[in-house]
Amino acid sequence: MKSAVCPGSFDPITFGHLDIIERASKHFDQVIVAVLENRTKSSLFTVAERIEMISENTKKFSNVIVDSWYGLLVDYCAKNNIKSIVKGLRAVTDFDYELQMAQVNLQAAGVETMFMATAPAHSFLSSSLVKELAHYGGDVSTMVPANVNAALRKVQAGK
Ligand code: PNS
Repeated sequence: MKSAVCPGSFDPITFGHLDIIERASKHFDQVIVAVLENRTKSSLFTVAERIEMISENTKKFSNVIVDSWYGLLVDYCAKNNIKSIVKGLRAVTDFDYELQMAQVNLQAAGVETMFMATAPAHSFLSSSLVKELAHYGGDVSTMVPANVNAALRKVQAGK
């Protein structure tokens, strides 16, 4: 079985992530959406909350599962016998960082990274931008699924 992992912090998941997950699911027998820690970012939602939000929106894809991992992505891949990572590339600004990670993951463990061009409609979209907009009461309903929008509103209401 050909499996791929779509890793990320998904804090929270956006329509951009979901587009990549759906498209990846058409090229692999199984796609695992793995919630990992990004040590350069502080998170708004717990890992359990993120998993719940992702699961709700990926349950329609029969070959997509959601998981989490604390540690190196390559260790997760080794543990689950995964040889491919799929990531979305929005713009050239993503490239340096993503290329570095892809090269380290290839060198360290022989795991290949496949980049998918983000759909133009989502090229500006990021979880950080969504959180910033939502923090100040901006409308993010066209950027995230309904359950994520509701969770962001709840956070905003509790401030
Ligand atoms: O959605 P993000 O925040 O861009 O995802 C980045 C993530 C979580 C995939 C990356 O930080 C990661 O792989 N973290 C796990 C630790 C690891 O393997 N780091 C890469 C070593 S180069």
